Amino acid sequence: MRLDKILAHLGYGSRKDVKKIIRAGHVLVNGEILRDDDAHVDPDNDEIIVGDDTLEYAEKVYWLMNKPQDVVSATVDPRYPTVIDLLPSNAGHGLFPIGRLDLDTEGLLVVSNDGALAHRLLSPKKHVDKEYEVDLAKDWDPRYEMELSTGILIQDPEYQCKPASVVVIDPKKIRIVISEGKYHQVKRMMAACDNEVVRLRRIRMGGLTLDPHLQPGEFRTLTPLELEQLQKTHG
Ligand code: URA
Repeated sequence: MRLDKILAHLGYGSRKDVKKIIRAGHVLVNGEILRDDDAHVDPDNDEIIVGDDTLEYAEKVYWLMNKPQDVVSATVDPRYPTVIDLLPSNAGHGLFPIGRLDLDTEGLLVVSNDGALAHRLLSPKKHVDKEYEVDLAKDWDPRYEMELSTGILIQDPEYQCKPASVVVIDPKKIRIVISEGKYHQVKRMMAACDNEVVRLRRIRMGGLTLDPHLQPGEFRTLTPLELEQLQKTHG
């Protein structure tokens, strides 16, 4: 990319202003002063220093993944492959999963390098809806629906959940919408309903739905519309 374009984009002034900065010798690329105001650089790999600033120019990228089981939603793990390992090596810089799913949970996960978006979606204050499809060991007992709708008490550790809603799909399958993300929350909620999760799949987060064409382990970039919906998601 053109160096003057990058600097203008980062707010160092107009293209004319930044050309002056470059010609004046204030820009170091990989340790050397670069005075050529037509120069091209590789912002992902070149170290660019302007005055006292080292530039962070990672383009924001947004991946929608159907997380498979036995893959960790973290950036590194000593034992299991991570969701980052599933993506191609040129998927983007500084990627991390926005939120955590258990090792055995599947489904919608956004992988990005947009820290501000992650904060908006994950902050406990925001209460962004998360919808899960839950396969159960025993038939669903509708008597628990009232308790879930007002906030069920879960254990290990004890916690009073926020209201959640349930839709029954068949006797051993429900969909549940929660607005928080405590450790093993859905599993602990099902335990409090005298049941047990045998398969858990996240199918929605705020305004973003899991693409049914993505098989576990598959991913694609978010469409501009999906990104807009996610950006607009508020709890
Ligand atoms: N609730 C769980 O129990 N596990 C998850 O991975 C997500 C929600």
